[in-house]
Amino acid sequence: MILVTGVNGLIGSAVIREFARQQYPVRALVRNRAKAQALETLPGVEVVEGDMLRPETLGRALDGVDRVLLISSPDQQMVETQCTLIDAAKRAGVRHIVKLSGVTTSLDSPFLFSRMHAEIAHHLEHSGLAWTQLRPSQFMTEYLREVPTIVAERAFFLPFEDAKLTPVDLEDIAKAAFALLTTPGHEGKTYMISGPEALSMIEIAEQISLAIGEAVRYVNIAPEERKRAQLAAGIPAYVVDALDVQSRLRREGNGEEVVHPETHIALGIRPTTFAEFARRHAADFRGESGHFEGV
Ligand SMILES: NC(=O)c1ccc[n+]([C@@H]2O[C@H](COP(=O)([O-])OP(=O)(O)OC[C@H]3O[C@@H](n4cnc5c(N)ncnc54)[C@H](OP(=O)(O)O)[C@@H]3O)[C@@H](O)[C@H]2O)c1
Repeated sequence: MILVTGVNGLIGSAVIREFARQQYPVRALVRNRAKAQALETLPGVEVVEGDMLRPETLGRALDGVDRVLLISSPDQQMVETQCTLIDAAKRAGVRHIVKLSGVTTSLDSPFLFSRMHAEIAHHLEHSGLAWTQLRPSQFMTEYLREVPTIVAERAFFLPFEDAKLTPVDLEDIAKAAFALLTTPGHEGKTYMISGPEALSMIEIAEQISLAIGEAVRYVNIAPEERKRAQLAAGIPAYVVDALDVQSRLRREGNGEEVVHPETHIALGIRPTTFAEFARRHAADFRGESGHFEGV
């Protein structure tokens, strides 16, 4: 049996949908079953409740499990959450853990969450379990966070200057995770995955404009302006500070502008372009669906 964690979140739910599409049985760990109703109805998906921070709640989730896809929220407890799951999985007889992190994962990174992912990866690599790392670039869905101002002002506001990024489609990551969990030969390997193009924010705005048939502008703002807006929106101060550091690294050029086609090629996945993603989400970018506002 394969267990996927973090399945009420963005990437975890995409992975579960991929398993269902492939008609491959999978177990899905949730903290709160009431939030997982959409997953419960998918064929072959067994939803199990448990809290990764409380190993005593994980018995049923880990029973008979051979492989785990490890995902949880980027929050202050991410290291404790994921390391607790790794230790519980080992005790329960799990053989192999695939850890989802990010392309900038490094113990030396100034970006809090890249450092935390590296600490977890280090713990996993020294756990005695077989491991694989899947390291995606920025998710394309990050631009759905900009829907409120795209709808209201036909513009989005970020402090990225002329930095280029290589956003990747969640569905491509989900296909890669599915392949890493269901085919042999990936143990002890790290897979970087990005979108097929390095795009500036002006180019992203052009793609969104084409998809919705109306001009959308990118407006570069001062870092302090973004911090003020995020704090006013209720984002915790430590996250605002972490994102501010990430923005600075992006402006300086921290390697996130590098396209990584190797995982798509190795696993036989067709890379989704940002233009395709924007067309698929045209209703969201027009504010017609209401699904993604303020993601
Ligand atoms: N956004 C990006 O551009 C990007 C790029 C590269 C990598 N990443 C990484 O991708 C990862 C996942 O991101 P995401 O956007 O999918 O996160 P997300 O939407 O916040 O989902 C995380 C899920 O983890 C669950 N979770 C958290 N703590 C848990 C616990 N103690 N026990 C059980 N479940 C728990 C949450 O459950 P609840 O629903 O109950 O809260 C949630 O469903 C993060 O580690 C992030 O650093 C993100």
